[in-house]
Amino acid sequence: MAPLNSDFKLPSASRRSFLSLSAAASAALALRIVTEPMLARARVHNFPKDAIRIDANENPLGPCASAREAATAIVPQGGRYSDELTDDLVKTLAEMEGLKLEQVRVYAGSSEPLHHTVAAFTSRQRSYVTADPGYEAGVITANALGAKVVKVPLTKTYAHDVKAMLAAAPDAGVFYVCSPNNPTGTLTSHSDIEYLVENQPKGSVVLVDEAYIHFCDAPSAMDLVRAGKDVILLRTFSKIYGMAGLRCGAVFGRPELLEKIENYGGWNFMPITAMVAGSASLKDAQLVPERRRINATVRGEVFAWLDRNGYSYIPSEANFFMLDTKRPAKPAIDAMAKQNVFIGRLWPVMPTYSRVTIGTGPEMEQFQAAFQKVMTGAVTASVGAVPSAGELGKRKRNLDGIVVRA
Ligand SMILES: Cc1ncc(COP(=O)(O)O)c(C=O)c1O
Repeated sequence: MAPLNSDFKLPSASRRSFLSLSAAASAALALRIVTEPMLARARVHNFPKDAIRIDANENPLGPCASAREAATAIVPQGGRYSDELTDDLVKTLAEMEGLKLEQVRVYAGSSEPLHHTVAAFTSRQRSYVTADPGYEAGVITANALGAKVVKVPLTKTYAHDVKAMLAAAPDAGVFYVCSPNNPTGTLTSHSDIEYLVENQPKGSVVLVDEAYIHFCDAPSAMDLVRAGKDVILLRTFSKIYGMAGLRCGAVFGRPELLEKIENYGGWNFMPITAMVAGSASLKDAQLVPERRRINATVRGEVFAWLDRNGYSYIPSEANFFMLDTKRPAKPAIDAMAKQNVFIGRLWPVMPTYSRVTIGTGPEMEQFQAAFQKVMTGAVTASVGAVPSAGELGKRKRNLDGIVVRA
């Protein structure tokens, strides 16, 4: 790389380390970053008109009013990089969480820091430890890097089994803990996360993914970041804030841990629409309690309906849940799709379950009507169950070369 002019100034201290890429970091840059919609929509990408899309844990409410206004209003300034808007968002997050500026970085979604944390802290010698079933993105990264993946079953209450995770991998580089867990929507207690942190092998990090934390009132693990532990914590604006398409996420941790992550992906200017929408969302004090209540109400109605009809599911604290289709889940997923209701994927360890995202009340009524038909056999996934390519604009996502081995 040509040397930069010595007068060149990166906009903040957080952007210092971008020239110091190791060989491993350079290799990691070539890896694909896998995100939830890529996993959710590996088979179906373009949806028919009026499809009920409850497959990828998106928020049907979208950005809040002040976020929409802020994003719209900033568009005329789109000719400028305006990295001060990123600094504003970092400052707001740091103040809200009681952290220093150097302990916060923002990204275009949390997938990128997740991927780069795995790249930075796992290797052929340091394994990636995760729950089963769990969110698969980090597994794919670890596999691509040749790191061993250790999958540890959830406990009977669908929490991460932290003692088993520790016992299974004395060579761990990353312990990934997602709470509420994707796909079960269940919690791992703060005391269990703390136990994991207190007993983790030297040189490893506990990667706490709080993508869905705002949907419940469980305590965050942010206090462990404040205490300077070997913890990296992820948050996203894609879920309760309804900004999946605007792309905004954040990572929190000790500055030297964040610098290691940054070495794997560099620093890039953020889209200003996402920055101002993120800041506006955080300043809306009603957003989180209101949306938490809305989600819990719709979720409660769905669970009550499932109970009344004798169907099984795993009670969840998030904006999705695991639904027992009482048969291999794939034909049930296809039979739902035939009725224009697109529910989520399945996890091999729970082959009769499919993950269902909580949509709006009317969307969930359509879900219920369609599911009833599947369970009574009125609609099956026999020939023609999966809509034709033309009908769906069906497109296979190119996940070639990404092999989930573990
Ligand atoms: C557990 C978990 N972590 C991280 C992400 C990444 O989301 P994004 O990149 O949109 O912030 C997702 C997306 O669904 C997720 O489910």
